[in-house]
Amino acid sequence: MLRKTVAVVAAVAALATLPLQIAARLAVTPVEAVVATPPMGYNDWNAFGCDVDDRLIRETADAMVANGMVAAGYEYVNIDDCWSLPERRDGRLVADPAKFPDGIKPLADYLHRRGLKLGIYGDAGTLTCAGYPGSLGHEQVDADTWASWGVDYLKYDNCHNSSDGSRADFVRRYTAMSSALRLSGRPIVLSLCEWGQSQPWTWASGVGQLWRTTGDIADTWDSLRSIIAQNAPLSRYAGPGAFNDPDMLEVGNGGMTDTEYRTHMIMWAMMAAPLIAGADLRALTPSTLALLTDPGLIAIDQDRLGLQATVLSDTGGRLVLDKPLSDGDHAIAFYNPTDTAASMGVRLTATGLAAAPGYRIRDLTTAAESPATPTLEATVPPHGTAVFRITPLKGPT
Ligand code: GLA
Repeated sequence: MLRKTVAVVAAVAALATLPLQIAARLAVTPVEAVVATPPMGYNDWNAFGCDVDDRLIRETADAMVANGMVAAGYEYVNIDDCWSLPERRDGRLVADPAKFPDGIKPLADYLHRRGLKLGIYGDAGTLTCAGYPGSLGHEQVDADTWASWGVDYLKYDNCHNSSDGSRADFVRRYTAMSSALRLSGRPIVLSLCEWGQSQPWTWASGVGQLWRTTGDIADTWDSLRSIIAQNAPLSRYAGPGAFNDPDMLEVGNGGMTDTEYRTHMIMWAMMAAPLIAGADLRALTPSTLALLTDPGLIAIDQDRLGLQATVLSDTGGRLVLDKPLSDGDHAIAFYNPTDTAASMGVRLTATGLAAAPGYRIRDLTTAAESPATPTLEATVPPHGTAVFRITPLKGPT
């Protein structure tokens, strides 16, 4: 409640500073994007950096339809940095014709015809991180441009931000784009990407639908471990339409072991994180595809309660996590970031599970079911994560 009030007050304060012609647009009914569960999709940055073009996006969309990712829930196809010309034309952002010969609108149409949505990238500064034009001071014209192209999602970065570093400045810059998107008349998801610098989890609920909580992920175990340590304690700030974003998935990019990638996917599901695949989806191995589309994990991530798992215990970095699910089940995970196997456990009465005469316990990695027991235990390999879905039983066991 307090969070929402702070966000609304911040939004109103920022609006008060808008020029008259923009304030006049407040007569337009603002449209807000609704994202009840964490967004799922793709972004080209982790695998391709600046090498993005129309062909990559279309081929990726085709691959997502053909390989079952769309059926599994992946929906957004997001273009990251480097899509535009290095200069504005008549004050507007223009797609680089060498990369997007038809512009962005036909690409959005192509995705929409396949039931997909298009994401784009902008920056709350004078330049993007790769040096393309930023949107600071151009919020409404850029929001209107993206809306006219049929864009559905904006990742809004924080490079070259001319900021004094104050939280008020971060709130102002991101709220300006949030308001501009609403006034564009098209529901566009706002994904704040300011790397956790101003603790957006304390103010961005109501400004955008998700916010990065950390610096950039890299395709290494050290990066994954560090990001989990930063994001896991933030559960109380997340909820439906307001998600902590520990960054895009590296699953399938080759820098981690199968165990580490499985930890990546399980922990993103437990943390109700956006599942934005970052590998080359046109060339996935069967095991990577199986992990990205794992129905048990996606059901946990996409559960409509939209809650992030709470950390029940932290023993030298080994975490026991508890995520309540809408049908009364709980997902319980044992995360072992250490370099040695660990025996981990939790008494079911110490979790948020409702008291019941018994419980059905399903291991989501092996699909094995075990009988009710007062304590759930598992031996977890180094860098591994065990995850269980637990159902309270109604009758006697
Ligand atoms: C920042 C973001 C990344 C990516 C790059 C693009 O570093 O955090 O996710 O968008 O910019 O330049």
